[in-house]
Amino acid sequence: MINDRKVAVVGCGFVGSSSAFALMQSGLFSEMVLIDVDTRRAEGEALDIVHGVPFASPMKIYAGTYDDVADAAIIVVTAGAAQKPGETRLDLVNKNVGIFKSIIPQIRESGFKGILLVVANPVDVLTYAAIRMSGLPEGRVIGSGTVLDTARLKYMLGEHLDVDPRDVHAYIMGEHGDSEFAAWSSAMVAGVPLNTFCEMRGHRDHKAAEARIAENVKNSAYEIIEKKRATYYGIAMSVKRICTAIMRDEDCVLPVSSLMVGEYGLNDIAISMPTIIGKDGVVCRVPVALSDDEMEQLHGSADALKAIIDQVDFEA
Ligand SMILES: NC(=O)c1ccc[n+]([C@@H]2O[C@H](COP(=O)([O-])OP(=O)(O)OC[C@H]3O[C@@H](n4cnc5c(N)ncnc54)[C@H](O)[C@@H]3O)[C@@H](O)[C@H]2O)c1
Repeated sequence: MINDRKVAVVGCGFVGSSSAFALMQSGLFSEMVLIDVDTRRAEGEALDIVHGVPFASPMKIYAGTYDDVADAAIIVVTAGAAQKPGETRLDLVNKNVGIFKSIIPQIRESGFKGILLVVANPVDVLTYAAIRMSGLPEGRVIGSGTVLDTARLKYMLGEHLDVDPRDVHAYIMGEHGDSEFAAWSSAMVAGVPLNTFCEMRGHRDHKAAEARIAENVKNSAYEIIEKKRATYYGIAMSVKRICTAIMRDEDCVLPVSSLMVGEYGLNDIAISMPTIIGKDGVVCRVPVALSDDEMEQLHGSADALKAIIDQVDFEA
C-alpha cells in the first residue's frame, strides 16, 4: 500500500540534502526518510532539516534504511560519485552503475511500488539502469533529465528579454550533458514565437543570441562546480517541481528523462523530451515538432548515450 504522504531520499550529499530541504518546505509530504551509506551523514542531515519543521508544516524526518521505503510514494535517488580528475566518463558511468547495483535491488526487494526519481549522473544512463533493475513499470521510473537545464534556459531567456521566466516556453532536450540542445524552433514567449518576441524587445541577432544562451546553459554546471565544487540548489528546486507534479497529479509538461518507445524513431534508451507527468509518473510524451537540425542533434545525443549503454553491464 502506497503512503502518498511519504518520500525517501537516497544519497544525502549536496544534492540529496538540498532536495530534502526543499521537500521539507514544500508541504507535499508528512514523512521523509533519508538514506546514505554514510549513516551519520543521513542522521545529521535529518536532524538539521527537521529543525526547520516548526517554520513549515508538521513532518516526520529521520535517517532510515531500505526497510523504510516499501510504502513511499516517491524515492529520489541522488547517490553517486562525482567525476575525478583523470577519470573518463565511462569510468564514472561504471562506478555509478555499480552504486545503483547496490541500491536499486534493495528498493526492489522492499516491494516498493511508487515512483523512482533518478537524479544522480549520468542521469540518462542511470535512469535506464534503474528501469532495467527495479522491475517497476517503465513509466514509474523518471530521470530529472533536462528539467534543470530547461530552468536555466528559461531563466537566461527571461533575463535577455526582461520577461518572467515562467512565461517562456522553451525546452532543452536530449542527454542531460554535453550533447543536449535547445529546441529553438518551438520556443514561445506568451504564445508569441521567440524570434518575434525578441524583435519586440529590440534584439535582432537571433542566431548569435541562441548560440550564446545555449552555450551558457550547457556550461552552467561546469562554471558552478569550478566556483563552489557542486551544484545543488537549482536541482533541489527541480526535484521539488517534479515531486509536486506527481503528488498533485498535475499532468504538467516537464522535460524528464524516460524510456523512449518509438518517439522520434528512438527506442530502448532514456533521454529527455517534454513529457506529461501525473500521479503515476509518465502519462505520455509530447513530441514537439523539431527542425531538421534539431532532429539531427537529438539523434546525435541518442547515439552518444547508446554508445555508452552498450558498454555497460547492467546485470545486478
Ligand atoms: N541531474 C542533475 O541535474 C544533477 C544536478 C546536480 C548534481 N547531480 C548529480 O547528483 C549526484 C550527487 O551529487 P552530490 O553533489 O550530492 O554528491 P555528494 O558526493 O555530495 O553526495 C553523494 C552522496 O551519495 C552517497 N552514496 C554513495 N554511495 C551510496 C550508496 N551506495 N548508497 C547510498 N548513498 C550512497 C555518499 O555517501 C554521499 O553522501 C552526482 O551524481 C551529481 O553529478 C545531478
